[in-house]
Amino acid sequence: MGPAGGRPAPGPATIDRMAGTGDVLLLLPTRSYRTDDFLSAARRLGVGVLVGSDLCHTVEERVGAPPGLVSLDYRRPERAAAQIAALAEGHPIRGVVPGDDGTSVIAALAAERLGLPHNPPAAARRAGHKAESRRALRAAGVPVPRFWTFPRAGGPDGPARAVEYPCVLKPVGLSASRGVIRADDPATFAATWRRIERILEKAASERRPGGAAARAELLVEAFVPGAEVALEGLLRGGRLEVLALFDKPDPLDGPHFEETLYVTPSRHPPALQAAVERVAAEAARALGLLEGPVHAELRLSPQGPVVLEVAARSIGGLCARTLRFGAGISLEELLLAHAAGLPIAALRREERAAGVMMLPIPRGGILRGVEGVEAARAVPGVEDLVITVPEGREVEPLPEGDSYLGFLFARAATPAEVEEALRSAHGRLRFDIRAPLPTV
Ligand SMILES: Nc1ncnc2c1ncn2[C@@H]1O[C@H](COP(=O)(O)OP(=O)(O)O)[C@@H](O)[C@H]1O
Ligand SMILES: [Mg+2]
Repeated sequence: MGPAGGRPAPGPATIDRMAGTGDVLLLLPTRSYRTDDFLSAARRLGVGVLVGSDLCHTVEERVGAPPGLVSLDYRRPERAAAQIAALAEGHPIRGVVPGDDGTSVIAALAAERLGLPHNPPAAARRAGHKAESRRALRAAGVPVPRFWTFPRAGGPDGPARAVEYPCVLKPVGLSASRGVIRADDPATFAATWRRIERILEKAASERRPGGAAARAELLVEAFVPGAEVALEGLLRGGRLEVLALFDKPDPLDGPHFEETLYVTPSRHPPALQAAVERVAAEAARALGLLEGPVHAELRLSPQGPVVLEVAARSIGGLCARTLRFGAGISLEELLLAHAAGLPIAALRREERAAGVMMLPIPRGGILRGVEGVEAARAVPGVEDLVITVPEGREVEPLPEGDSYLGFLFARAATPAEVEEALRSAHGRLRFDIRAPLPTV
């Protein structure tokens, strides 16, 4: 596959890209764990990078003095794109890589302004808005759960009578399962609605991206039973290339949907995997996504794959460390190479099975310590354990929180061995979480 495969006709910016000039701009979320992984990928590729952030000091703390740090207004995508365009006048930018849902809209707007291959900004916005996504997918005939949207202002009583049970309530603009809660009857529905309203108020006070409009509406969906899978892909000129299909072997039945295990390759029958790939590609097309990373989540219902989400970003947290391609290329390298317009020869994942366990926060409080780290690391197949929460930090479980205690990684000959290694290592860990001291 050459660099020009599926790309739009070369304009001036594309010629620049071919000549290999300019840096790739990484739009990393403020609290990204992945900065180091992207920076080392860039070094291996020999591609220069600029790191965008809306809180410069956070990135600096983490990686020392990064090569080029750009302060951008992440909360206002148009303004951030204008900042990037202004920057590009003095400093050629050959590609833009989004780090999360919030920055995928900025990446689309900026790449459009710079004349680089990009997702239509409207498509990136649609993908980051759960209700808009649902509407677009349903209109295109892509299988999605039955759903209803309600103005928050109307309160829960009418909606509780209008929906079917069991259902899942969710905010339209948050991510990482934050505020996603199952309700089995009208009484639980009303309490759940109010709980989500509190989560939305808190998210607003944290100054997360996503404006008031994204808080004015709640989405309710029929609960879709069945196993869940996640598809990691790369869109090139509108064509979805599947990089990996992960099984999520822990049942996700609610009421909260904490992700724990991701294991690849999938153990589902090949025909079902092919159906997942087909439906995910249809979904990306229906949303209008064309270029760059996609992370899709689907349920395998008795009627076939149902799309829960297609995000215009790559897999979150440190989970990308499970993936290696060709002769050991990382997902970050692939994404940088794609954004830089470099030729990408082999997208085939390695032969071995791999997996990650996102370590759930068992209860709220202050993390005082983690025991069993060495024992967990010693489990055969376990490759690494990264605790991402510093001791002394307050932690909050889902659905109010949206983070994990860390990540456990394993590789083995088969997915079953990977799953077993991750479960066994997790069983050796003890998290000492205590109630915060009362404030005087
Ligand atoms: N309609 C549904 N039926 C069954 N499970 C659901 C449904 N909607 C969400 N979930 C569960 O909640 C998780 C998070 O929901 P999702 O819409 O992907 O929000 P987020 O953007 O926060 O990840 C899903 O991965 C799935 O396990
Ligand atoms: Mg999701």
